[in-house]
Amino acid sequence: MKKWIRNSIAGILCLGLLTAVAGCGSQPAQTSKETPKKVIRVATDAAYAPFEWKNEKGEIVGFDIDLVKEIGKEINADVQFVDTPFDGIIASLVNNNVDMLISAMTINDKRKQSVDFSKPYFVAVQAIAVKEGSPVKAFADLKDRKVGVQNATTGQDVVEKLLGAKSPKIARYDTTPTALNSLINGDVEAVVADKPVVQLFLKNNPSAKLVLLDDASFEKEEYGIAVQKGNSELLNQVNGALDKLEKNGKVKEISEKYLGK
Ligand code: ARG
Repeated sequence: MKKWIRNSIAGILCLGLLTAVAGCGSQPAQTSKETPKKVIRVATDAAYAPFEWKNEKGEIVGFDIDLVKEIGKEINADVQFVDTPFDGIIASLVNNNVDMLISAMTINDKRKQSVDFSKPYFVAVQAIAVKEGSPVKAFADLKDRKVGVQNATTGQDVVEKLLGAKSPKIARYDTTPTALNSLINGDVEAVVADKPVVQLFLKNNPSAKLVLLDDASFEKEEYGIAVQKGNSELLNQVNGALDKLEKNGKVKEISEKYLGK
C-alpha cells in the first residue's frame, strides 16, 4: 500500500473515532444522574410561637420547624411546610394532603385513633393567662367565668372538663393569639393554653399587663410528630432521626434557641 493511502485511511479512522467520542460526550450522562430527593409535606398551624409562627418575611419558623428540617437532613428528604388551621390538621393528614404533622401537638388516646405518633420530643403543661388584678388565682376559679381557648386543643379539653363541654362560657378561637387578644380586649376573663406559648406572648406584650398562673391539676403533656396510621416506614425514620438528634445535642440546641436555657 502506498504511504499516502495508508495515512489517509488512518486519518479517516481517527476522525471517525473522534466524532464517536465527541458524540458520546454530548449524550446526557445517564449514570451520574441522582435520584431526586423525596419531598415530605408537613402540616403545621403557624400561629403558635415559639413552636411555629410566621416571621416578618412570612416564612414559617420555630422550634418544630427547625426540628423537622434536621429530621429531613437525617433521612435525606426535603421538607415542605403547609400552614394548616389546627382544628383541621389531623384531617389534612388523614386525607393525605400532607405526609406528616408537627404542631406542638400533645400525644393523646383520642388522636391516636386517627394518626400514629413519634416518640415524644417535648414536655409541656397548660397555663392560665389572666389580667393583672384578676380575682382568678387557680384553675378552679374559672368555673362559671368566660374562658377563651384555641379550638380543638388540649386547653379546650381541660376547660370543657371544668365548665362542661356545652357551657356557653367557653369561647373557642381559631388561634391561640386570637384568644389572648380577646383577653386583652376583655372579651374573656382567662385563656388556657400551653405554658411556653402563654409565657412568650406575655413577654412580647408587656403593656397588656397579663399574668400567668400555674395549677397543680394540669397534667404533663408530651408533644409528638404525627404520620398517617400505618406509615411505619416514615415513623421509623422519624424516630431514628429523633434518637440521633437527641444524642448529638441538636434537640437541646434547638430548645435553647427558642426557649432559652
Ligand atoms: N398542645 C396542645 C394540643 O396538642 C396545643 C397545640 C396547638 N398547636 C398549634 N400549633 N396551634 O392540643
